[in-house]
Amino acid sequence: MNTLKHVAIIMDGNGRWAKRRFRPRVWGHVRGANRVSEIATTAAKLNLESLTLYAFSTENWSRPTEEVKSLFKLLKKFLIKEKKTILKNNIRFDVIGNYKVLETHIVELIDDLKESTANNTGLNLMLAINYGGRAEVVDAVNRFLKNNPLRELTESDITDNLYNPINQNIDLLIRTSGDQRVSNFLLWQISYSEFYFTDTMWPEFTAKEFKAILEKVATRERRFGGLTEDSQLNPKQVLSRDKQKTFS
Ligand code: FPP
Repeated sequence: MNTLKHVAIIMDGNGRWAKRRFRPRVWGHVRGANRVSEIATTAAKLNLESLTLYAFSTENWSRPTEEVKSLFKLLKKFLIKEKKTILKNNIRFDVIGNYKVLETHIVELIDDLKESTANNTGLNLMLAINYGGRAEVVDAVNRFLKNNPLRELTESDITDNLYNPINQNIDLLIRTSGDQRVSNFLLWQISYSEFYFTDTMWPEFTAKEFKAILEKVATRERRFGGLTEDSQLNPKQVLSRDKQKTFS
């Protein structure tokens, strides 16, 4: 069993889910927003260290203005309505991405939730808002260069300058709704992540499915570029070990 500490989710399929029901895309986002709290509290109860959710990418600005507006309206509602639940579940809230460009009231709500939960010791819940993976790496390099103009850059220099300074490696990336893409999400952090793609649309993604995925992926063997115990044995050793297993 491998331990999954940090899970990231691309919450995809809201629009298609609504369209299939002959409803406007925005309705799918409303239903999708309702799933966020349940999945976050489930992650907290399962003692995951971190959960990062892709709420709005730098590319999502190209959607129709009305859709963008309603996504931020839902975010605002989430920040107000879920504060109590987040505090009750000892969740530490943070945002990755450039959220400071958003409307002042949303920025204030985000900063307030960050501050009020800063000393919580449970799940780190990160919302990726106005987030792009390439932009994050470029920002990290620029931040490094500003402080160290004369030194050659190392991998840890990039890691140390990413938006989220804690627990950055993603153990598992889940994408809902059947597409199998990364969509500019956490490009640096997924280098050794496991991937899980489910056909379930985000508005129908349940705590039950989430738990089942975590259990399934926990049994996968992760080698991080190394070798397993098995592959270091010669065939004779494998046979004799398996014999012992069968008869012991
Ligand atoms: C993808 O669905 C989803 C998004 C672009 C944003 C995710 C937003 C939410 C889950 C709701 C609001 C979030 C919070 C945190 C309150 P899509 O529209 O790309 O679906 P499609 O691929 O079927 O068109």
